[in-house]
Amino acid sequence: MATLRHSYIAGVGHYVPSRVVTNAELEPLMNTSDAWIQERTGIQERRWFEEGKDTTANMGANAARKALEMASVEANDVQMIVFATLSPDYFFPGSGVLLQRELGISNNCPALDVRNQCSGFVYALSVADQFIRTGMYDTVLVVGSEIHSSGLDKSPEGRGVSVIFGDGAGAVVLRPSTTEGQGILSTHLHAQGEFAEELIVKEPGSNRDNRADYVVANKQDLYPYMNGQNVFKHAVVRFPQVIKEALEQNGYQSTDVDMLIPHQANLRITQYVQQKMGLTDDKVFSNIQRYGNTTAASVPIALSEAVQAGKIKRGDLVCLAAFGSGFTWASALIKW
Ligand code: UT7
Repeated sequence: MATLRHSYIAGVGHYVPSRVVTNAELEPLMNTSDAWIQERTGIQERRWFEEGKDTTANMGANAARKALEMASVEANDVQMIVFATLSPDYFFPGSGVLLQRELGISNNCPALDVRNQCSGFVYALSVADQFIRTGMYDTVLVVGSEIHSSGLDKSPEGRGVSVIFGDGAGAVVLRPSTTEGQGILSTHLHAQGEFAEELIVKEPGSNRDNRADYVVANKQDLYPYMNGQNVFKHAVVRFPQVIKEALEQNGYQSTDVDMLIPHQANLRITQYVQQKMGLTDDKVFSNIQRYGNTTAASVPIALSEAVQAGKIKRGDLVCLAAFGSGFTWASALIKW
């Protein structure tokens, strides 16, 4: 059997809404404090979308345009879209087709939506990578985009969850690698459904006699619920585990990593993983301070910023890793 080819990230871009929401702005709404939020999560501010301007699909398209430009790829040359989000524009259809329309892609390429929350982007990247490896497609656009702010409980009851999440989008263009040893070396995906309800937005669920009536009477179930301590406990185990799995498969040790881009869930989780892997500060990228947790958008936004800042160079060993609702967790090891 012929050796499967690798894919590589030919372009990366991100978009965040212009509205900055500081911790101080949340204080009167949620009976919280800047000190609490910073101490427990590292977050100083996040972005909230502007109704009538930003949508999950068009923020994704804004990020995608930058990624396409960097890759020198025309929108109509995209052969597949993989769109990861937990906050789609509509219950159906998915945001992938909306992004296709927004970008003016008229070639009828497939648009696949991925529903894996914080791990969504790494799952989507893995899906795209498989299509390139098998030779089915040469150009795949992978997008993570989220609008959380319209679905958060902004009262004191919601403070344990609502201070964390923010809005934003990131995208990459995958192409077949032409250089031996360059590109996505491997991806690793996991899930454990026994914890499905530990981080959840229950409604609008389909298992109701009448969804509309149920939602009207149970408005609080439209907001995210999180058992924060349990999620934290699993995250600090799964992150190092799935990173180690990727390194071992490719014959590397943790100290070989030039840049770790973890899902931006909580600065304390990232610091724990960094310490466990024995990595110095310059080898771990964090921007949660400015954006909060943007779930499926967090990894591509962070990757895009790291590339923009010149922190990732050709030949670097880059590891992406994520953990979140499901529970799901995933990693990707890349020779840049
Ligand atoms: O991205 C997907 C994966 N998500 C994660 O990885 C998140 C993982 N979990 C976490 O990051 C943390 O659990 C949180 C940041 C969400 C919460 O931090 P914590 O240290 O686990 O706090 P806690 O929920 O145990 O609450 C501690 C105290 C409670 O008060 P009492 O009962 O000790 O009096 C809460 O009521 O902090 C209180 N609290 C707050 N106080 C001020 C909870 N939220 C807030 C708040 N402001 N926003």
